[in-house]
Amino acid sequence: MNEPIVARSVRYESFGDASVLHVIEREVPAPGPGKVRVAVRAAGLNPADYKTRNGSYPEWAPTLPAGIGREISGVVEAVGDGVELPVGTEVFGNIATNGMAEYVITSESNMARKPAELDWITAGSLSLVGQTAYDAFASQDVTAADTVLVSAAAGGVGVVVAQLALRAGATVIGTASLANHEFLRGLGIIPVAYGDGLVDAVRALDTVTVAFDNNGPATVEAALELGVSPDRINTIATDPEPYGIRRVGRGPINTATLEELARLVVAGELVLPIDSVYPLDEVVAAFEHLETGHVRGKVVLNITAG
Ligand SMILES: NC(=O)c1ccc[n+]([C@@H]2O[C@H](COP(=O)([O-])OP(=O)(O)OC[C@H]3O[C@@H](n4cnc5c(N)ncnc54)[C@H](OP(=O)(O)O)[C@@H]3O)[C@@H](O)[C@H]2O)c1
Repeated sequence: MNEPIVARSVRYESFGDASVLHVIEREVPAPGPGKVRVAVRAAGLNPADYKTRNGSYPEWAPTLPAGIGREISGVVEAVGDGVELPVGTEVFGNIATNGMAEYVITSESNMARKPAELDWITAGSLSLVGQTAYDAFASQDVTAADTVLVSAAAGGVGVVVAQLALRAGATVIGTASLANHEFLRGLGIIPVAYGDGLVDAVRALDTVTVAFDNNGPATVEAALELGVSPDRINTIATDPEPYGIRRVGRGPINTATLEELARLVVAGELVLPIDSVYPLDEVVAAFEHLETGHVRGKVVLNITAG
């Protein structure tokens, strides 16, 4: 029914740590032209959410009060004029913000079709990290002749980039803490500890030709020290300027890319590990966990509009 509804949504009124987040009830309008109203089933957490919330990204600072959450899965529940997706379509994708809510309004063009075989939690946490990894990976012409260094290889973006490189036939070395080494080996990634000794440890393994950084300067500096050409080093996590390297992150939302990633997950050709799942009411605990910086894959809110 194309009428406003009242539903729960995460809000914050001041910038700060996770404790500023709380759940409110608010009116969600009927969708306008080209828009859909989605009954959200799951919403993934991302570092960009807490960097915006804690004031680290002043250029992205929203007007307060603000919602939070950039990736969702759910069901199209109402549609505006001109929308082609039928009511009842299962979708997933990226939204500007405010994904941590029972219902969201978003452009139809932001939503990809969710395969029936893809579970809600994975679908709700795939779109931002998946497309970031896909676009970053596409910035380099990786072949079977390459040995690729991926930092934070057990993190949301890193684990996808690393597997895309494996699919291209490359040898992949991934940085992680010891707790994640067995997990990375299981995917076919050669694990190496980050921190002191990284350069020597990687050099002992192979000659790196491409690097995808998902953590910050230490990996970039290691890659340069290992002799990787600057134009074959891509970062999504630090300023590329001082190093003369590339910074290709997520480009415009591309539903064809999202649907391809979903197909790979369903086919068992891409693993997106789910670190933990929290209910909407425990959004503060969910962010506190993500903000430890040591999650394996995704932290996700399980949201069932009721
Ligand atoms: N530009 C863009 O388009 C874009 C898009 C998405 C994300 N990003 C940025 O990319 C970064 C990664 O995002 P994400 O979602 O993948 O984050 P994430 O899932 O929260 O990353 C967690 C991973 O980081 C690893 N890690 C922690 N400290 C490390 C260190 N010192 N060296 C290497 N790895 C370390 C952890 O490994 P252990 O648990 O093994 O310690 C963990 O697996 C963030 O800075 C994010 O803001 C940029």
